[in-house]
Amino acid sequence: MSDLSDPGCAAPSEAGPELALETQLVHGGTLRSEFGETSEALFLTQGHVYRTAEECEARFKGEDPGYIYARFSNPTVGMFEARMAALEGAEAARATATGMAAVTASLLAQVRAGDHVVAARQLFGSCRFVIEDLLPRFGVASTLVDGRNLEEWQAAVRPNTKVFFLESPTNPNLDLIDIAAVAEIAHACGSRLVVDNVFATPLWQSPLKLGADCVVYSATKHIDGQGRCLGGVILASQEFIDKHIHTFLRQTGPALSPFNAWVLLKGLETLSLRVRRQTESASIIADALAGHPKVRRLIYPGRRDHPQAELARRQMRAGSTLVAIEIDGGKAGAFRFLNALKIIRISNNLGDAKSLVTHPATTTHERFAPAVREAMGVTEGLVRLSVGLEHPRDLIRDLEQALA
Ligand SMILES: Cc1ncc(COP(=O)(O)O)c(C=O)c1O
Repeated sequence: MSDLSDPGCAAPSEAGPELALETQLVHGGTLRSEFGETSEALFLTQGHVYRTAEECEARFKGEDPGYIYARFSNPTVGMFEARMAALEGAEAARATATGMAAVTASLLAQVRAGDHVVAARQLFGSCRFVIEDLLPRFGVASTLVDGRNLEEWQAAVRPNTKVFFLESPTNPNLDLIDIAAVAEIAHACGSRLVVDNVFATPLWQSPLKLGADCVVYSATKHIDGQGRCLGGVILASQEFIDKHIHTFLRQTGPALSPFNAWVLLKGLETLSLRVRRQTESASIIADALAGHPKVRRLIYPGRRDHPQAELARRQMRAGSTLVAIEIDGGKAGAFRFLNALKIIRISNNLGDAKSLVTHPATTTHERFAPAVREAMGVTEGLVRLSVGLEHPRDLIRDLEQALA
């Protein structure tokens, strides 16, 4: 049992690191108070009081590991961080208010004016904004490459390149990027690789084991997975967190609220069950719809006809909870299809227990010029299906009647 009178920011786990993933998801990081509560306690407090001025001084000096202020950390947030670190096999984790706060902090914290960043051009719209628009405003140049083409990554390297950034599978068209190969190129030029692992989830892909230096998640997606709250997390070695992330987060303040951390902890308990079931259903749906006369192209990393099926087998443990479908008839065809769905709802979110469908060209990727969208593979007829926990038979019926 952990002693709450002497908490550490990186909460010690009651579960050992040798335990299976499902056990870590339920017990990892648990800090139990003297009341012996079953469920994780929600410490809804902005700060903490100290027994003496000397203790307070020691906390601020970092000589006493206790909590100080919720912008820095909080016992409930600490439990979430410790459980995420156990799940990812990372030495350290820091939670943030949103996935975008995690992405932005992981990039900004590593660079200064005069540096250069290389990223895949196939990115979620807001991530691409950070790379393409925000960083250059502060004197950090960026180059976008076709993430699938290793020669482009190599050719983009400059003497001042500090960070590489990618997501795989990509949002929304489920391209894959060879994480181990990009990590090798990054390390050869003294750079570091950050991977946004949202689409793969911690269950199906482990970027740190493939050579990445830092992994980020929007916990809003599968980790909550029940449409309730926003959250994010940055995972890396202790050295990386101490050197780049710790002070940046403390001083800039994108902290996760204790309440949301508590919701996310409860989400983690069922993550494995949900993602396994959603992936199974996505795979069944992909097989059922491939070859449908109204489907021009179906992309699913778990299928043998995915253009990078060999890479999927090499770096992922299973497909995905998402399927990308190019509908016949461009935007009009896609809209007719979306509007005809009865169970699957139109939304911009993903990873939820409820199946959700998105038209990226008019939502998540709306701000890009049509030619830029085309280059990212975001066509007018493309829809992104996030498969939920409904019975796959009902989902297939819904999809087929909407296609008809
Ligand atoms: C790949 C990817 N990264 C980051 C984010 C941002 O997450 P959040 O909405 O929690 O800020 C999203 C959101 O859709 C995403 O799809």
